[in-house]
Amino acid sequence: MKHLRTLNDLTINELEDILNMAKQMEGNFFQQHYPPVTVANLFLEPSTRTKCSFQVAQNELGLHAITLDESSSSVQKGETLYDTVRTLEAIGCKAVIIRSSQKAYYKELENITIPVINAGDGAGDHPTQSLLDLLTIQQEFVIFQGLDIVISGDIRHSRVARTNADILRKLGANVFFTGPEEWMDPAITKGNVITIDEAVEKAHVMMMLRIQTERHQNEEGLSNEEYHMKYGLTLEREKRMLPEAIIMHPAPVNRDVEIADELVECSRSRIFKQMKNGVLARKAVLASLLNLKGEKQYAHII
Ligand code: CP
Repeated sequence: MKHLRTLNDLTINELEDILNMAKQMEGNFFQQHYPPVTVANLFLEPSTRTKCSFQVAQNELGLHAITLDESSSSVQKGETLYDTVRTLEAIGCKAVIIRSSQKAYYKELENITIPVINAGDGAGDHPTQSLLDLLTIQQEFVIFQGLDIVISGDIRHSRVARTNADILRKLGANVFFTGPEEWMDPAITKGNVITIDEAVEKAHVMMMLRIQTERHQNEEGLSNEEYHMKYGLTLEREKRMLPEAIIMHPAPVNRDVEIADELVECSRSRIFKQMKNGVLARKAVLASLLNLKGEKQYAHII
């Protein structure tokens, strides 16, 4: 694998290798190495989890990192994405992690030779989020084949829904969708739309999504309370879930909108486990793309 722009950059074998590597990353810290290896984080859209977990992953791998956002880079002066990334490559960065609101921004970067890691492209893809989600599901259920997974909420505008739906189907899970009709996207949902009340009784995994208000208006015009009662995971609905079922959410969470406040940290919730797994998945992606795996210079110190 040269880049990670979408999960289509990985074969299923490579994906399994990354998940296996991620599991071994817990508690593994790598020594800083000489000459230093520097990577760049270019976040042109807000992020807490993805940006910070990449930074923690980089620290634990012994990498040096520089982090730019839109307000502190020459993007403010009109510099193109290509020229920005070409500059980072020219000054010696060995990989670049990019979040942008522009869908498929990486198509502009075909001539960039260092690995490009997609940290989210508009309503396009979010491959490292999917990897951490897969790791979380695998830790719980071991295999994906035959699992009923419901993705709930704002499907049309969600890069997480798109990336997860594709890969979970490839891995043999049954993927269903629920939410307001106008936010169902036939290209993603492929007719597998059910009601929230059907969903909670069937799902092994309820994957809740935030309303992506930065990408659209709330066309239905529902208040938060109305949305919660009509489409959300309420306390009453949680009681009807299967005993073994878990709740996931990529976060940020809007408490009491798509999910009841009390459920965010309930015993079924894996939401903070997902965030922890984000560091492991991103360490595995960086180690794989930078060929850190098994190299003697990256001796474990724990
Ligand atoms: N899940 C996720 O991508 O969160 P951030 O937007 O905070 O990175």
